[in-house]
Amino acid sequence: MTRRPLVAGNWKMNGLAASLPELMAISGGYSAALKAKADFLICPPATLIREASVQVAGTGVLIGGQDCHGKASGAHTGDISAEMLKDVGASYVIVGHSERRADHGESDALVRAKAEAGLRVGLVIIVCVGERKEQREAGKAVAVVREQLAGSIPDAATAATLVVAYEPVWAIGTGLTPTKADVADMHKAIRETLSQRFGAEGQNTRILYGGSVKPENARDLIIQPDVDGALIGGASLQAKDFLGIASTYI
Ligand code: PGA
Repeated sequence: MTRRPLVAGNWKMNGLAASLPELMAISGGYSAALKAKADFLICPPATLIREASVQVAGTGVLIGGQDCHGKASGAHTGDISAEMLKDVGASYVIVGHSERRADHGESDALVRAKAEAGLRVGLVIIVCVGERKEQREAGKAVAVVREQLAGSIPDAATAATLVVAYEPVWAIGTGLTPTKADVADMHKAIRETLSQRFGAEGQNTRILYGGSVKPENARDLIIQPDVDGALIGGASLQAKDFLGIASTYI
């Protein structure tokens, strides 16, 4: 099996109804040439998922959530369940993004519960991992990421239902990026970890790179043996930039 690249946009807490034309520009730019090479996914804020799903219907662009609760329903004010995401048209969900790990104190165990919720309803889960700056400087980046993988990924994950996103925390939204060699080393370590635990499923699981991916640096960061796409924050808000990154695959 060859791994089909995934070009994924994470809009974070950005986007109002007025932003939907940008999504339409992204789906409009999802040409036959791009469709032949890569999947497109946009994760808008929860408030826009329903309308986004309606608007991209038939274009091949996938829609996902940015987080979900571990439970299906209940007294959890402000939270959104995986069932709810699915109900409004999401087919993917991001879990364990470093902003949630930092802002909401999410542990690996909690991320795993969220990931299990995603699998329960048939969503593809994107499990985010990545080291902080001081951890890299201390030479602990690979150990940190291995621990996050072990703690955050459910046993039931398969190549079809799991995507791993490696996002060094210090590279997110900063314009800083790891070297090509650092990305290659980390993705190789993630591949080994997944293969040890999941066998062939681990070989076939997509591993994305995320953190300051732009059209200008995309080729260096994502055209590498164990990099199967990108998770794009800031540059996914503009169709021009998102399509510029995606065009690296054609
Ligand atoms: P960035 O964000 O592309 O703005 O660095 C990436 C992410 O957090 O997914």
